[in-house]
Amino acid sequence: MIEEAFKKIFGASPEVVVRAPGRVNLIGEHTDYNDGFVLPAAIDRFIEFAGRRRSDRTIRIHSTDFQDSAEFSLDDNQKDSEHRWSNYLRGVSKFLESDGHQLTGAEIVFGGNVPRESGLSSSAAVEVAATTFWQRLMGLKLDPVYVVKLARRAENEFVGVPCGIMDQFISALGRKEHALFLDCRDLSYRHVPLRGDVKLVVCNSGVKRALAQSEYEVRLKQCNQAVAQLKSVGLAIRNLRDVDPEDLDTASDALSEILLRRARHVVTENARVLEAVKVLEEGDLERFGELMNASHESLRDDYEVSSKELDVLVELAWKQPGTLGARMTGAGFGGCTINLVRIDAADAFAEAVSRGYQEALGLKAEIYVCQASDGAMAA
Ligand code: GLA
Repeated sequence: MIEEAFKKIFGASPEVVVRAPGRVNLIGEHTDYNDGFVLPAAIDRFIEFAGRRRSDRTIRIHSTDFQDSAEFSLDDNQKDSEHRWSNYLRGVSKFLESDGHQLTGAEIVFGGNVPRESGLSSSAAVEVAATTFWQRLMGLKLDPVYVVKLARRAENEFVGVPCGIMDQFISALGRKEHALFLDCRDLSYRHVPLRGDVKLVVCNSGVKRALAQSEYEVRLKQCNQAVAQLKSVGLAIRNLRDVDPEDLDTASDALSEILLRRARHVVTENARVLEAVKVLEEGDLERFGELMNASHESLRDDYEVSSKELDVLVELAWKQPGTLGARMTGAGFGGCTINLVRIDAADAFAEAVSRGYQEALGLKAEIYVCQASDGAMAA
């Protein structure tokens, strides 16, 4: 597909084709930037890059999704407010070069089927695919965790969107039929098999994440404020990752009502991830599903990042036979829910949830039945 598009636009075959997946997060939401734990899985929806070298320093890039082209020189690589879709590649290229990896000009076509602005990390997939593309085209030897950090840096420092490390990490290092358990403090990780007759069903509310960025920044600040206040009453912590649920009970007077709820989400969510990994490894999918449900309630009530649409989708899911667990996934304020559904119930689930959503809100949900897939750098 992407090769064909490349041939059409540049009249030749690409030298290199790479791809990076989007993701769902099974549990561990809004914990990554608190040095906590996450359990995402890469999905079988990808951003692909095809390209070949040029002998100069010019980049000519075409986006099949935006049906738009842009051109820039590596020697004058600035943020582009007209072709915003090109900024991920620009950022990645800039930081690779400033880290001492020399690039050449290139002709590039990219695009894919990760829905945009839906909480499935299409931007992380673009950043990771772009970095992997350069690695292959230039024959660079890059450590996978370096790739993850560089991709995140492009998002934070070049594109200017705050985010933790989860999305880039899973897009690079996901594994087929596995979730990835990541400790966002020391970046140690392990793959956990997703066994059993279950499907990862994603329901897209169709609502773009309007408030996502500003509210994300507010949550980030609130978590830092909570840490400062807990430290001021004597808790020896670096951030919310170091607080356990009992500490929070004892120190709760130190926090305003709102900061207590924000902190409580993060603290209880970290505990849920640890239990979720344990029960998943033991094959106890019922308990795993209960933890997903509890995660949703905590995001809705304590962290307040859900939305009416996401709550309706989750409540519909909870009522369906064969649903083990359902919750919002990603930053919130629109986007998608993730549902763990028994294989034999998946079709009826999709049908009932989309009908119910239409009836309740007059909106159309897109439903994707996904497989856990390999990341861009999977060995
Ligand atoms: C977005 C960010 C991630 C993470 C989630 C919430 O997807 O990019 O780093 O913080 O929100 O869990």
